[in-house]
Formats: sequence, C-alpha cells, structure tokens
Amino acid sequence: MTIAGQETIPFNRTYMSENELGYLAQALRQGSTCGDGPFTRRAGRLLAKLTGAEHVLLTTSCTHALEMSAFLLDLRPGDEVIMPSFTFVSTANAYALRGAVPVFVDCRPDTLNVDERLIEAAITDRTQAVVIVHYAGVACEMETITEICDRYGLALVEDNAHGLGGSYRGRPLGSFGRMAAQSFHSTKNVQCGEGGALLVNDADLVTRAEIIREKGTDRSRFFRGQVDKYRWVDIGSSYLPSDVLAAQLTSQLESFDGIQALRHAVWHAYHERLADWAAENGVSQPVLPEGCAHPAHLYYLLLPDLRNRQAFVAHLAERGVQATFHYQPLHTAPAGTRYGRTAPGGCPVTEQVADRLVRLPLFAGLDEAGVTRVAEAVLTYEVR
Ligand SMILES: Cc1ncc(COP(=O)(O)O)c(C=O)c1O
Repeated sequence: MTIAGQETIPFNRTYMSENELGYLAQALRQGSTCGDGPFTRRAGRLLAKLTGAEHVLLTTSCTHALEMSAFLLDLRPGDEVIMPSFTFVSTANAYALRGAVPVFVDCRPDTLNVDERLIEAAITDRTQAVVIVHYAGVACEMETITEICDRYGLALVEDNAHGLGGSYRGRPLGSFGRMAAQSFHSTKNVQCGEGGALLVNDADLVTRAEIIREKGTDRSRFFRGQVDKYRWVDIGSSYLPSDVLAAQLTSQLESFDGIQALRHAVWHAYHERLADWAAENGVSQPVLPEGCAHPAHLYYLLLPDLRNRQAFVAHLAERGVQATFHYQPLHTAPAGTRYGRTAPGGCPVTEQVADRLVRLPLFAGLDEAGVTRVAEAVLTYEVR
C-alpha cells in the first residue's frame, strides 16, 4: 500500500547483517547442513559471551527451548507452573504439553512484567516452577523473584524472547534462571527467520538437554567420541536447527552492537518526540525501573482505552504506518481456561493493558525519515 506515493512503514523489516550472504554460501558449500556444525558452535559461543551462559544449545525456536525446559523440569500431570498471563502462548503451551497447569498471575501496570508481589499467593504444594518474561527486555524484579524461588525451592525459568542484551543491575538477562529461552524469530533483534536457544545455567541439566534436543538419543556424545554408538536413551524430540540457520545467526550475532545502536536510536527518538503528546493525551510510555538496561526490542504506548487504541491503529494505518498490538490474555483464552488456572485476585491489569497497548514500527534500518513519519502520524492523533 502507498500513501501519496509513500511506502507504508512496516511494523518490522529484517536486517541483513554484513556477512550474512557470505556465511550462508559457506554453510551451503560445507558438504553438510545438519545441526551442530561449525556455525552452530560459533553462534553458541557468541551467545554464551553475550549472555554469560555457560551452556548454550541452539534450538529451532524459543517455543522449542521452552518445551525442552518443561522436559528438563520433569513435570508431571497436575504440577503447577506460575507465569504471567500477559505473554505469548508458547510460555504456557510448553508446560501444558507436559500435562502441567499454567497458573496465571497478573502483571505490573508500569513494566507489564509479572507482578512479583502476587507470586507468593499463587504458590501451592503442586507448584514446581516460576516462568518469567522480561517484557520488552525490561527486567522483572529479580531480587524479589529469585528470593521467592529460593525460599520455596522452585525452579526459575526465564522466557527471554525479548531480552537478549538486556540486564538487571548489570547482570545479563538469561543468566538468572536455571534455564532461559531465547528467540531468533524474524521479529527479534537478532534473527534467523525461525530459531531459538536454551541457555542452561545448571551444569547438571546439560547432558540431558542435549539428549532431549536430539530425539532422545545420545548422538551429541557420539559425535564428540564419548560413546561408540548412539542409542535411544530418553524421551525427546527434534529441536536442533540446521547449520544454515546457524550461519545466518552467527552473522547477526557478530553485528549485534551495530544492530543495537540502530534500534536504540529509533527507541529514543520515539521516547523523546512523543513525550509531550503522551502526557497531554493520557497515553503511557514505557517505564524503565532503575537498574534495568533494555535492548530496544519494542516500543509500545498504552492508549487510555480499547476504543482509542483501535482508532489510533486505524489513524496510523491511514498515514501509512503499520502498528500492531499484543498479547491477548492467556487466562481468558480458550486454551488458557481449559489447561490453566488463574491465581487469586485474577488478572485485571493484564485485561486492561491488552486492550490499550500499541506497538510502533521498530527495526534496525528504520531511518530518520521513517521515524519522523511515524512520530508525525502519532502526534496528529487526539485522544477522544
Ligand atoms: C514472550 C515470548 N515467548 C516466546 C515466544 C515464541 O518465540 P518463537 O517464535 O521463537 O518460538 C515469543 C514470540 O514472539 C514471545 O514473545
């Protein structure tokens, strides 16, 4: 669609990093494109450096990394896993697949992260784990959450789909949980179309994690010469990505600093240029608690209500700006009510936020002219 000869500014456009085409060609010429090749190892090392994780297993998606975490927690039917309702379906689905019950907790009205003050009331004698999401890469209140998990002996898993490069009091996101799941989906800061990683911060889980990722076999150990044949040794599935995807990911990770600089420039431009308009119109901008460094994963605004949100998205579309919204609350979703339960007190903040949130276009390569067009489209909207 074009508006007066101008291309619509898409919500997202993938960034092509410097060595991407070269590495893809190299991977295709390797003679083997299956997983755990040279690029898989290279991408794993780069990720380990970025996140501080000791063990990194590339996966076919963040969804699959979360599924692996559910296997590794040995969840049994009826076990409970506490998580926010305001998140993507995969956060819950991964555990429901193992027969566990997602227990949905409301989010904080400022960061939209799980409200740490509500976690304790959701714990029962069936609770096994707490899964957190650092929404927009802004850290959850980790001091309180780790203290609760330690006190009750609960496993902590970070769904760090948004948080690569973010930190809490100087410590990288993805390094707090027993495990953390990363996403390299095409909409993420660093991407390979579809991809992910499981960061394993507990050395005792690594061998089994490799087995689960390799169809329940000890093939990884076989390839390292640690066993003389590989066999079916556990349950598992096929979560190892091709080395071609890892080649693309390697190039993206090598360009991380450049990608981040471009994204931060867009994020800050929105934040500054829209501040007065937001204040005058009762619109909320993202809140960054002290000690949280975010990775400019997304830029959102909270309109006063659903009617304004819908009118705002239409207003932007008429001006050639593609804005989107998410997430539909999990606790009221058809599968959420079937497989999960809602913690005491319900999730009223989640329900409100889901109606009010709008995401603006944000990608590395959105230039100054594009940012100005988005900002101008926003500034001509009057809340009614
Ligand atoms: C919080 C969260 N978790 C998990 C996922 C799933 O990621 P993937 O598409 O890599 O499976 C997403 C996707 O956007 C997400 O936002």
